[in-house]
Amino acid sequence: MIRSVVRGYGAALPKRVVTNRELEDMVDTSDEWIVQRTGIRQRYIAGEGETTASLGEQAARAALDKAGLTPDDIDLVLVATSTPNNTFPATAVEIQDRLGMTHGYAFDMQAVCSGFVYAMATADLHIRGGMAKRVLVIGAETFSRILDWTDRTTCVLFGDGAGALVLEAQEGEGTNADRGILTAHLRSDGSHKDKLFVDGGPSTTGTVGHLRMEGREVFKHAVAMITDVIEGAFDATKTTADDIDWLVPHQANRRIIDGSAKKLGIPSEKVVVTVDLHGNTSAASIPLALSVALDDGRIKQGDLVMLEAMGGGFTWGALLIRW
Ligand code: UT7
Repeated sequence: MIRSVVRGYGAALPKRVVTNRELEDMVDTSDEWIVQRTGIRQRYIAGEGETTASLGEQAARAALDKAGLTPDDIDLVLVATSTPNNTFPATAVEIQDRLGMTHGYAFDMQAVCSGFVYAMATADLHIRGGMAKRVLVIGAETFSRILDWTDRTTCVLFGDGAGALVLEAQEGEGTNADRGILTAHLRSDGSHKDKLFVDGGPSTTGTVGHLRMEGREVFKHAVAMITDVIEGAFDATKTTADDIDWLVPHQANRRIIDGSAKKLGIPSEKVVVTVDLHGNTSAASIPLALSVALDDGRIKQGDLVMLEAMGGGFTWGALLIRW
């Protein structure tokens, strides 16, 4: 059977690092509170000329270099983002153009913090359905542009950045020993839509709006939703926590990551944590975390890697992949 196998990865971060201490001058907060409640120590914030498309392009070029491929080899550019450059056209076509591609197709996906898991699952369907042989899957965000910088309950949590993977169709045996995506589990429940949202939009206010979140409410649901889809992925592949080499979670809050890993029986040595470095970069957080763990040699070819995310909507999902 056809499998969607990772051939290359890349990441991009804005130039400017903003520490918790710097935020103390902007809102009534403290480094101690932010570190204790979230694990975040710093985040990257986009400056002039740095956009979701420019960061996405940079990450995509890095992923193509690692894969030894050029934009000519790509059939589909799929961008997970909730902070597109414009309402339309899709940031994916903007990146397609920046890469000099006039062939193939490109579109955006919006599932907030679960966007990268949704995009990987979608890319896998396009590959296994025969529509695309190679897909650039990009998670790119500039959440700093939708934050209310006077609201301490949200502005300390998020950051900007982008990450990308090149997925390629390869023949597999149809067993768990195959490289590539083995299973994907997506969920959403719109009855929670008012717990994490942006208070503006083209069809309502005609403005971009600002991010609003009932943090405690999101926190309350996060661990149960994350463990639910991961257990779904274990059941579908007849695997257990002992079989996986790495858990690469969406990086929202250290306490949510630790709580989910503990509930699933996954030891902390197998969990990739980068929330301290990047903050919550929404759809970019998983590919950014992957690139750190690939660069430092933790994740190697053949490793079994579980990706998971939960966010606005609520949306949530998990994806099991053999690297
Ligand atoms: O990626 C998408 C999904 N998003 C998430 O996963 C975020 C989920 N939620 C969270 O991570 C946590 O709920 C937060 C980090 C947002 C908040 O942590 P918490 O432990 O749930 O704190 P809390 O909201 O219960 O607030 C505790 C106190 C409050 O003061 P009082 O009411 O106890 O006097 C807040 O006003 O902390 C206060 N507070 C702050 N203090 C200093 C809230 N934000 C800050 C701040 N600095 N930045």
